[in-house]
Amino acid sequence: MTLIKFVFLLAASVFVSSTLVEGGYYYKTELLNTCKVDLPISVPTDWITMVHSCSNLMMQQVQKELNASLTYLAMGAHFSRDCVNRPGFAKYFFDSASEERQHAIKFISYLTMRGNLTDYHKHVLALIPPHIMAGVPQMTWNSSAHAIQDALKLETLVTESIRQIIIDCEQGKNQATDTETVNDYHLSDWLTGEFLDEQYKGQRKLAGMLSTLRKMENSHGKLGEFLMDKTLL
Ligand SMILES: [Fe+2]
Repeated sequence: MTLIKFVFLLAASVFVSSTLVEGGYYYKTELLNTCKVDLPISVPTDWITMVHSCSNLMMQQVQKELNASLTYLAMGAHFSRDCVNRPGFAKYFFDSASEERQHAIKFISYLTMRGNLTDYHKHVLALIPPHIMAGVPQMTWNSSAHAIQDALKLETLVTESIRQIIIDCEQGKNQATDTETVNDYHLSDWLTGEFLDEQYKGQRKLAGMLSTLRKMENSHGKLGEFLMDKTLL
């Protein structure tokens, strides 16, 4: 009786999972189809002005923000472990993970506002490729100072990446034609106002935290790290 029940449950679970996969496939197909507006009148597309190379850079930036989010998630999990037990640093990194996820959402929203991400398989699925998780460098850190140091390096890379999009899309060449100059001032202004300001302030905060932490550790050893952790709660 127990064996029959087991076989039944196994068959049911296989059926359910294959239905879900199929359901997922049909769902994606429907999404792809619903993006094609089938009307007797044609909708103009000349309002979509972001060039292909800038759209690609922005999609890559989504992946960088998601990678930063996952890295901070790993840091938060590390400092939450009972053997590490630094709840202040854990909270700080979990909050940072949420911020980076919000940044990814902002980039996606901007792309859709400009009329990009039109093709589900080519654009939407490509936003979150499997290699993002593989890009998280490590899952444990020797100390809070090492994690803050890595966070500062990560933010510096993100800042440089955003700066490069601004340079390429404000005065760069359109890679598709190689002749036309790209003048996407709205994108450059949005990136400068929304992101560069936050990046520079974030970097300064991490540098200050690291400096304070090092000084406290220098005079109080591990007690310094313990006290710093309490200030982050
Ligand atoms: Fe970010």
